[in-house]
Amino acid sequence: MTSPSLEQVQRALATVNDPEIRKPITELGMVDGVDVTPSGEVAVKVLLTVAGCPMKETITRDVTAAVGALPGVARVRVDLGVMSEEQRSGLQGKLRGGQAAREIPFARPDSLTKVFAVASGKGGVGKSSVTVNLAMAMAQAGHKVGVVDADIYGHSVPAMLGVADARPTQVEELIMPVPTRPLEGGTVGPSVISIGMLKPRRDQVVAWRGPMLDRALVQMLSDVFWGDLDVLLLDLPPGTGDVPMSLGQHLPNAEVIVVTTPQEAAAEVAERAGTMASMMKQRVVGVVENMSYLACPHCAEAGAPEHRIDIFGSGGGSRVAQTLTQRLGYDVPLLGEVPLDTRLREGGDAGLPIVIADPEAPAAVALARVARTIGGRGRNLAGLQLGLTPAGKF
Ligand SMILES: Nc1ncnc2c1ncn2[C@@H]1O[C@H](COP(=O)(O)OP(=O)(O)O)[C@@H](O)[C@H]1O
Ligand SMILES: [Mg+2]
Ligand SMILES: [Zn+2]
Repeated sequence: MTSPSLEQVQRALATVNDPEIRKPITELGMVDGVDVTPSGEVAVKVLLTVAGCPMKETITRDVTAAVGALPGVARVRVDLGVMSEEQRSGLQGKLRGGQAAREIPFARPDSLTKVFAVASGKGGVGKSSVTVNLAMAMAQAGHKVGVVDADIYGHSVPAMLGVADARPTQVEELIMPVPTRPLEGGTVGPSVISIGMLKPRRDQVVAWRGPMLDRALVQMLSDVFWGDLDVLLLDLPPGTGDVPMSLGQHLPNAEVIVVTTPQEAAAEVAERAGTMASMMKQRVVGVVENMSYLACPHCAEAGAPEHRIDIFGSGGGSRVAQTLTQRLGYDVPLLGEVPLDTRLREGGDAGLPIVIADPEAPAAVALARVARTIGGRGRNLAGLQLGLTPAGKF
């Protein structure tokens, strides 16, 4: 068999994406040289963006697979090098496109990315669990999804997405979001940046507040190369503090999802979070009630009809939805009721959210439905962004 042409090899390489930047390595200037011998041995020199790039195994594997699939290839050798400073700043310029440093691309009027901020009145209600499951469900539906973990009190999102110990790669001033493992069928999973990743040292305790917090939030939105996202989800800290305020200033077009439990007290603080979002001119897109009930395992085992145990009371989600509808003057629906399920917690602990690990579980079904409801409304319908609050409301 004749060995492949250089052009064929180039075309195969053009199908390999850099896992962090999500663009073909050929476009990024990462392919430094290709050599094909008459006996079908192909050597590819790949330049990594930084030395010790955590993605080098993935890149090596993908290049080997793509080139190895060409007819006439007997062996593929991948040699790894590292970009020079000049090459890196060239790449940075290319990635920024026309975008000025420090500009938040999602705040541009022509942005096609839908931004959802997940808020709650208090901690422990499942805000992060909801965030990661929505992210996974939307990614599985084929959307390009980014997740910003902006919860200063407990950055649990990376662990819940299976990348607990990852540190982002940096190309000059640009930070690459951390990719999560590919989903079934090779679908690209969500990428994530956590405020915890911005600390110089992991074990460092930082009292995030005020201007510093604002800078961190802006950095996660503007210095991170998110690429063309369909959806950006933000896990906000609970309550109505500095982060929701900053976010409201920088991204008034974000839509807010309020998470609550059925409990009276939790519902009340959730209403406050929703009202605050609206004061920042953000639209509240709906309410997710979490820990709604426990399906009684004994009745299930006995084959009896479903018996729901209201561990945390009932009615909180619909109460928040009703109150916000009244206060804000537009329909704030109850998007879903997610039952208690040990598999949901286990999925979070294992870094494999329940919508992926156990898609048939009622909790997963409820979360996937929420993802479809908010994710399936078409990209960034302009009318939804204009702060539909009736004039003079505040
Ligand atoms: N529906 C649920 N069923 C069982 N465990 C849950 C459920 N929702 C959340 N949890 C668990 O409760 C804890 C708190 O959830 P988390 O998402 O971290 O809350 P928050 O981000 O609001 O503080 C986690 O251990 C999580 O796995
Ligand atoms: Mg959390
Ligand atoms: Zn029962």
